[in-house]
Amino acid sequence: MLEKAIKWIKTYTISNQGVAVTSKRQISYPEVTGYLIPALLSVGEHDLARQYAEWLVSAQKQDGSFYGAGDHCGYAFDTGQVIKGWNAMLDRLPRLEMPLRKACDWIMETADATTGRLLVPRTNTSWSLGRRGEVSEGIHLYVLPALRDTGEILNEPKYTRFANRSLDYYLNNSPLADFSQSNAMTHFFAYIQEALLELGCDDKALEGMVSVSEYQQPTGAIPAYSDVPWVCSTGMAQLALVWYRLGDSGRADSALSFLEKFQNPSGGFFGSYGVQAEYFPSEEISWAPKFIIDAIQQKIANHFDQTADHYRSDIAISDGRVQALLRHLGDLTDKNLLDAGCGKGRYSIFLKHCFPNANITALDISLEMLKDIPNAIKTVHHGLLNMPFPDHSFDSVICIEALEHVIQIEQGIQELTRVLAPGGKLVIIDKNHEKKGKLGVEPWEKWFEKDALLQFMKNNGLDALAEFIGYDQVLQPDGLFICWWGTKAQGASTFTQGFRGQGA
Ligand SMILES: C[S@@+](CC[C@H](N)C(=O)[O-])C[C@H]1O[C@@H](n2cnc3c(N)ncnc32)[C@H](O)[C@@H]1O
Repeated sequence: MLEKAIKWIKTYTISNQGVAVTSKRQISYPEVTGYLIPALLSVGEHDLARQYAEWLVSAQKQDGSFYGAGDHCGYAFDTGQVIKGWNAMLDRLPRLEMPLRKACDWIMETADATTGRLLVPRTNTSWSLGRRGEVSEGIHLYVLPALRDTGEILNEPKYTRFANRSLDYYLNNSPLADFSQSNAMTHFFAYIQEALLELGCDDKALEGMVSVSEYQQPTGAIPAYSDVPWVCSTGMAQLALVWYRLGDSGRADSALSFLEKFQNPSGGFFGSYGVQAEYFPSEEISWAPKFIIDAIQQKIANHFDQTADHYRSDIAISDGRVQALLRHLGDLTDKNLLDAGCGKGRYSIFLKHCFPNANITALDISLEMLKDIPNAIKTVHHGLLNMPFPDHSFDSVICIEALEHVIQIEQGIQELTRVLAPGGKLVIIDKNHEKKGKLGVEPWEKWFEKDALLQFMKNNGLDALAEFIGYDQVLQPDGLFICWWGTKAQGASTFTQGFRGQGA
């Protein structure tokens, strides 16, 4: 579902601009283009994210705001979503700082100075829900994490203070957690719940999710409003995302499996399905794929959080995978090594034991996996398709039985290579596609053809080789595990120039 969603986004990206509003309305849409940026980065689509961020600079109104899909008014909601995208790209595109400040300043200047209530759109705009009134102002909460993040990134406390004041306003003045209200459509209601989580109001979000849970059908479906028989596609994906983030994988899985059946061959989703469906029922909407990406990434992280107990933090020196590492990495004394998708850190711990002066960083998408890794190893909670390290940060990078879970494999290799210093070694250990069926696998898991992965590595400027290796008690290679290793050419170009994040 995730790869198809990405395919849809690419198909409906306007040349050198942003994403279209819908499959039938092919003009670039600032709001969705903005919040797609972090989603695209999280799946390794760096070039597209950059294109979007750059196009948004040219689309910004003189006053700093962004317009909606149907008019040219400046909207706080839409502007906030662009801020989200620019925050995520600022490391790579420092020139976004000025437009970013302008956008944040516009939100603050047009808000109520005393309460922090954001600019309310005029009636008869796209906020109208016909007989149901208007979209809840509570969705403005979905702007505040972006402002708060900008405050932190730019070290500008006025944005953070404003976000906190505005949060208080909405907590006290907007009904946020009652799904039975007539204007509470899943799409908008889920914006509010996700924002509450991001703003640290977990109890309130939980209250909201309990309220909507009552309406979930045994099929997984959740009606778009509490009193209709039809469902809203993006609302379902958004609610799944919030349930995953709250650790309720059961409800989330069931919502996503229900939704999966409706994905069109294009990878897109109509806005709604079912009897009397009235939310873009015959147009594929650009905001559904965004939340499909977020929900599936969260599903995978949750899976590892919930199964962390099954993984080991130690490994025998006789294990064929350890032997392969020792063979290909050489002496790590005073070297920087990254263990990407480290799990409980069994390889990092082993290597630190062998080379106490090595600087080892262990990165994983699952916080639960990282929590017991010893302090001598630096841990980073992050996905490996968009790592928070500058280009060329590490002398060696290892990735063991993790690439098989990242879905976007070529982007994974590109990112692992990006953070590798010229002359540095990348070692990947994973399973052989030809042996699939030998072990139980997760539905998203991919095993690799030896030569195909080797070619990806070569395409990324690595001088690479591969060999079959042993594992566990299997001392002689039996074809299940493959080790690929490659050296990055001296003077190799970087893939995302200008990354100025914190060093490892
Ligand atoms: C099978 S475990 C292997 C862990 C470790 N490398 C080992 O061999 O013990 C896979 C690990 O990859 C992590 N992972 C999955 N997708 C990831 C992603 N996109 N970015 C970073 N880590 C990821 C999981 O959380 C999990 O800890």
